[in-house]
Amino acid sequence: MSALTVSDRFHNRTARVAVVGLGYVGLPLAAVLADSGYEVVGIDLDQTKVEAVNQGRSYIADVDDADLLAQASRLRATSDYAVLGQCDAVSICLPTPLDPEGQPDVSAILASGQEIARFLHPGLVVVLESTSYPGTTTELLLPRLEAAAQPQGWRVGEEFHVAFSPERVDPGRTDWTIQTTPKIVAGVTESCLAAVQAYYGPVFETLVPVSSPSAAEMAKLFENTFRFVNISLVNELLLMCDRLELDCREVLDAAATKPFGFTRFTPGPGVGGPCIPVDPYFLAWKMKSIDAEARFIELAGQINAEMPRYWVQKVQDALNDAGKPVKGSRILVLGAAYKPDVADARESPVIDILQRLLQKGAQARYHDPYILSLTEMGVPLTAVADLEEEVQKADCVVIATAHTVYDWASIAQGAALLVDTGFVAKRSS
Ligand SMILES: NC(=O)c1ccc[n+]([C@@H]2O[C@H](COP(=O)([O-])OP(=O)(O)OC[C@H]3O[C@@H](n4cnc5c(N)ncnc54)[C@H](O)[C@@H]3O)[C@@H](O)[C@H]2O)c1
Repeated sequence: MSALTVSDRFHNRTARVAVVGLGYVGLPLAAVLADSGYEVVGIDLDQTKVEAVNQGRSYIADVDDADLLAQASRLRATSDYAVLGQCDAVSICLPTPLDPEGQPDVSAILASGQEIARFLHPGLVVVLESTSYPGTTTELLLPRLEAAAQPQGWRVGEEFHVAFSPERVDPGRTDWTIQTTPKIVAGVTESCLAAVQAYYGPVFETLVPVSSPSAAEMAKLFENTFRFVNISLVNELLLMCDRLELDCREVLDAAATKPFGFTRFTPGPGVGGPCIPVDPYFLAWKMKSIDAEARFIELAGQINAEMPRYWVQKVQDALNDAGKPVKGSRILVLGAAYKPDVADARESPVIDILQRLLQKGAQARYHDPYILSLTEMGVPLTAVADLEEEVQKADCVVIATAHTVYDWASIAQGAALLVDTGFVAKRSS
């Protein structure tokens, strides 16, 4: 397969492409690649996901079964990397969590790099989508591919291409889609950039080329660090307003009337999800590895981590004012997901709130229309079934995750005491 032929196949949508990792990022990406006309094969080690995709069953909220069924003739899945031998491109969407010591865990990228290297062939375009620290594409992925290419005399930018293009999907969001959100692309060489542009050009509305994979990796980390730091800043505003006996919502509403130079963030129980509480630490780790600091990240992490304790104290104070101890009180926490309208409790600060309440001897329980049991708690906790009845029975109701399906007015009316972490009840009243 010559590079020119591959480029033609991208152009006329007859290319065969692969997506490695069919999770929150990989499955939606595979679906849009198929939708744009490519023949797509998803590769995942999890056999249940492979089977689900092959049966047209989605397990990701942002992808409907109907989308998978509509693409069934162009989208299939396997656990066997050998399919790469027949592919023109591969997008890597593998997890990049923090390990138990809080260090970047890039083991999935390394393992998959070895596998891709086994099936490397002239014309293949390899694109890393996973979030990671600057240098991951060129210092970790590329050498594994080059080791396999060298005996054949294949060179990056000549016989094969390597690029980085960070995924920016925001689960649950509908105003911006994968296709309409501008997509950053960067190649290891100029021709690698041209190759990823040829591959992604027919799929995404806007490609944003940058000069190097490291610049693109840094841009992605900065986007999420920006949110991480600003959420911590607005959480600190809440802590400051509390001490000054000011209404934080009023202060924020007033500040947000400035038509320029201000972006509104809302205080809450902290940060959660697979990205915002994780990605900044990839950057902090990278800076530490070169004996430098990421000071805002460390401070923001401390403030965000303090929020669950702050909210549990608010519950304690509210009960105290009503003459009740936390111990033995019936407390209903509304929403367990890390953000509204998603069925995902990964790294959710609500888990910390529930754990703290249980540790204090409260009869803590939760309701979430999308998360029926919380395995993240260590001890599995099951969501209460009858919301209205639980609101009536609870000594205190805590609004933790503001799913839009909740009727705040009736919850506020039914609750004996209400602790509202995001000013939602007030806002909708
Ligand atoms: N979830 C998000 O909202 C989001 C948004 C933007 C970027 N990201 C980034 O995208 C990347 C993927 O995240 P995700 O949320 O989709 O992860 P995920 O855990 O949902 O999915 C990863 C998939 O990879 C599979 N897998 C693991 N090792 C494998 C291997 N060696 N070979 C083949 N398959 C393997 C797993 O079985 C799983 O299905 C991460 O770097 C993440 O930071 C995630």
